[in-house]
Parts: sequence; C-alpha cells; structure tokens
Amino acid sequence: MTTKVTAGAVSAREKLIVALDVETAAEARRLFEALRDEAGVFKVGSQLFTSAGPDFVRGLTEAGASVFLDLKFHDIPNTVAAAAREAVRLGVRLFDVHASGGVEMMRRAAGAAAEEAARLGVPKPSVIAVTVLTSMDEAALRECGVAAASVEGQVRRLARLADACGLEGVVASPHEIRPVREEVGRTGFLVVTPGVHPSAAAYADQKRVMSPADAIRSGADFIVVGRAILNSGDPACAARAVVEEMEEAQSQ
Ligand code: C5P
Repeated sequence: MTTKVTAGAVSAREKLIVALDVETAAEARRLFEALRDEAGVFKVGSQLFTSAGPDFVRGLTEAGASVFLDLKFHDIPNTVAAAAREAVRLGVRLFDVHASGGVEMMRRAAGAAAEEAARLGVPKPSVIAVTVLTSMDEAALRECGVAAASVEGQVRRLARLADACGLEGVVASPHEIRPVREEVGRTGFLVVTPGVHPSAAAYADQKRVMSPADAIRSGADFIVVGRAILNSGDPACAARAVVEEMEEAQSQ
C-alpha cells in the first residue's frame, strides 16, 4: 500500500526519485529491481507511460514501489479531475498537474483525488503542481504571452496558487526552492526538484543544474535524477553515491 508523503525527518534514500526514462516496460522493471533498495520513489513520465501504459504502473505499485506519476496534466478541469481519479486507482504516491492550468483545474484535481481515495479507502496521493518548466527561460515565457517579470516571479505566483488550491507542493528547479519556501511558509509543502546532477559542480556554468548536496541544502524534499543514474555503468552504485552525497549534506 502506498503512503502519503509528509515532510519531516526523511532519510536521504527516501528523498531520491529515480526517473525511469527508458523505452520499455522490461527495461524499467529491470531498473526498478536493481534500484529498489537505493531510492525511495520511481518516476514514470510521459515516455514510459506512453510506451508501457497504466498496467505497467499498476504492476510497479503492486510490487511495492512508490511511484511519482509525472504526466503533468493540463486540460479542462473536468478531464483533469477524471485523470486524477485514475491516478489514485493506480496507487501512485505522487502525481502532478500544470499550475498554469488554472485555479479551477487545480482545485478539481485535488478534490477528485481526495474523493476517490476516500471512496477506495486508500491513502491519497500527493498532488503537486509544475510551476515553470526548467527548460524555459524568461524569453520562452514571453513568447507564450506570460508577462511576469521573471521566471522566479512566475514560479512564486504559481506556487502560491497551488497552495491556495489545496495542492501538496510543487515541482520547481533547484534554484527556485528558496523563493518557493518564502512564498509558501507552510510546513509540509513539498518541493520536488529535477535538474539535479551529481557532477553539477564540474560544470557550474550550466545555470539550471545543481548538485544533489546543494539541492538538499537548499531545502528540496525530493530530488529527481534520471540519466546520471540510468546511463552509468552501474546504476545501483551511482544511486548510492547520490544518496551518500545527500546524507552528507543533511548531516551538516
Ligand atoms: O536530466 P535527468 O535525466 O536527470 O532528468 C530526469 C527527469 O527530470 C526528466 O524526466 C525530466 O522530466 C526532469 N528534468 C527537468 N528539468 C531538467 C532536467 C530534467 O524537469 N532541467
């Protein structure tokens, strides 16, 4: 059975989300088996979901995996609410929607997840909101007609909205963790951060990347790591190294 995510004294291992960004269910399943003792959560994103489908996700949760269903729902409120109910039925621990889908959409997603979990008598997944995609900069936001002064300003605004709509947290780049905390002071508001790379220090010129240690020091509840683990010769060893780095940062 899945458990609801709460902030607090959580081990470094539990804070590591491995992105299963691979082509096939077989490959993802092999990775899960190799990494299940090394990471707390496994992320299924649009590539794997499109390839392997909900049955694969159900299989993972039934095998005891904590799953972050990263499908970034963004549609009319009724459709997102229906998708939220399906996510609950899959037994995932977290799933996300785009905050830019609006207040009504986020409220309906949170409400539908709560209702469905209560109906089934299962823990409610944490519903989190994508703020600004880490691939977007100010110019890209302007191209889309977002007139906010900066990426950070837009992240702050969307984090506040997500909280007001009853969502449990946000997905944000490691550089926006502190601004999100300033906007939403509530204990337990989750910040999930992709854009984390173990050797980030080696290429500090890449502004959107941060090391696991720095992301933890900045206050991330979860860090998402994909290729740095998946593409290493020994994923379990690479994951252990990330967790050790996180542990070191937590103990400082
Ligand atoms: O880069 P990496 O392979 O670690 O990415 C893992 C996951 O984090 C991807 O599935 C992607 O959704 C997300 N990501 C992101 N922003 C980045 C890099 C990755 O949201 N800058």
